[in-house]
Amino acid sequence: MSIAFEQYAHPWRERFAAALSQVLPAPDTQQASLATAMAYSLGNGGKRIRPLLVYAAGAALNRAPDRTLDHVAAAVECLHAYSLVHDDLPAMDDDDLRRGQPSCHIAFDEATAILAGDALQSLAFDLLTQVPDTTDSTRIALVAELARAAGAQGMVLGQAIDLGAVEKTLELAQLERMHRHKTGALIQASVVMGALVGGATPAQREALAQYADAIGLAFQVQDDILDVTADTGTLGKQQGADSARHKPTYVSLLGLDGARHKSRDLLSQSLDSLETFNDGADALRALAHYIVERNY
Ligand code: IPE
Ligand code: IPE
Ligand code: MG
Ligand code: MG
Ligand code: MG
Repeated sequence: MSIAFEQYAHPWRERFAAALSQVLPAPDTQQASLATAMAYSLGNGGKRIRPLLVYAAGAALNRAPDRTLDHVAAAVECLHAYSLVHDDLPAMDDDDLRRGQPSCHIAFDEATAILAGDALQSLAFDLLTQVPDTTDSTRIALVAELARAAGAQGMVLGQAIDLGAVEKTLELAQLERMHRHKTGALIQASVVMGALVGGATPAQREALAQYADAIGLAFQVQDDILDVTADTGTLGKQQGADSARHKPTYVSLLGLDGARHKSRDLLSQSLDSLETFNDGADALRALAHYIVERNY
C-alpha cells in the first residue's frame, strides 16, 4: 500500500489499540467468557478503517488525534465488531472464519456470540455518553448519529435487505440501496462523527458527508470484488462466500470489470468532495485510495 496511507495508518492504529484496551469491560468472575468473546471480536486483525476515518475527519478539521476522537473511534469499532459477530452467525451468513481466525460463534458458542454482539453494541453507546472534553449536546448528537446509522434505517436495514435477497436478482438501484445501508451507513457515521467533534461548519459537514457517502459505497463494492478475486488466506474470511450463498453483489450484477469501474468512479467522486479542504484532508484522501485499492 502507498506510503501516504501507512504514514497515517501506522501511528493511528497503534494509538487506537491502546485506546481500545482501556474501554473493554473487566470479565465478570462467573461469566468470563462474555468479556473474553467481546475482546476476541474486537481484537487484532481488523483493518480499523472506521477508527481511521474518525481520526482522518478530525485531521481534515485540524484536530490531531486526542482522547475525544479516541472515544468516538472506539464506539464505532465496537458497533462494527458487533455487526461482524452477528453477520457470521449461522442464521445470517454462516461464516466460520473471520480475520483469519474462527468466527466468534465457533471460538465460543452461538449464544455467547449473540450476547457478545449485544454487549458490544451497548458498549458503543455507553462510550458515546462518556466522550471526554466535549459538551452534552455533542454527546447526544453523537449517540443520535450512531443510532441512526446502526439501526432499522441504517446497517440493520441493510442486513435485512441482504438476507432477503439471497437467491434473488436485484436491480442495480436495489443493490446500491442495500450496500449504502449495510456498510455505507456506518462508514458515513464514522466521518460525520469525527466532523461533529472536530467542530465542522455546516458546509464542511456536508462536504465530508458526500465524501463518506461515495467511499462507503466503494468500500462494499471492493468487498464484493475481493470475495471473487482474493484468496481465503489473504482475506482472512472465506473467499467465494457470496456466490456460494447466491448473494447478489456488484460483481454478480456488473461483472468484475464493471465493479472495478464503479469503485474507481466512486473514488473520484469522494476526492472531488474534498476539493475545498487543504492538506489536512490528505489522510481522508489516502484512506479513499486505500479503500478501493486494498487487497483484503
Ligand atoms: C467487513 O468490514 C464487513 C463489511 C462491512 C463489508 P471490514 O473489511 O472493515 O472488516 P475488518 O474490521 O477490517 O475485519
Ligand atoms: C457485512 O457484509 C456487513 C456488516 C457486517 C454490517 P458482508 O457479509 O459482505 O461482510 P463480510 O464479507 O462477511 O465481511
Ligand atoms: Mg453479510
Ligand atoms: Mg458476511
Ligand atoms: Mg462480503
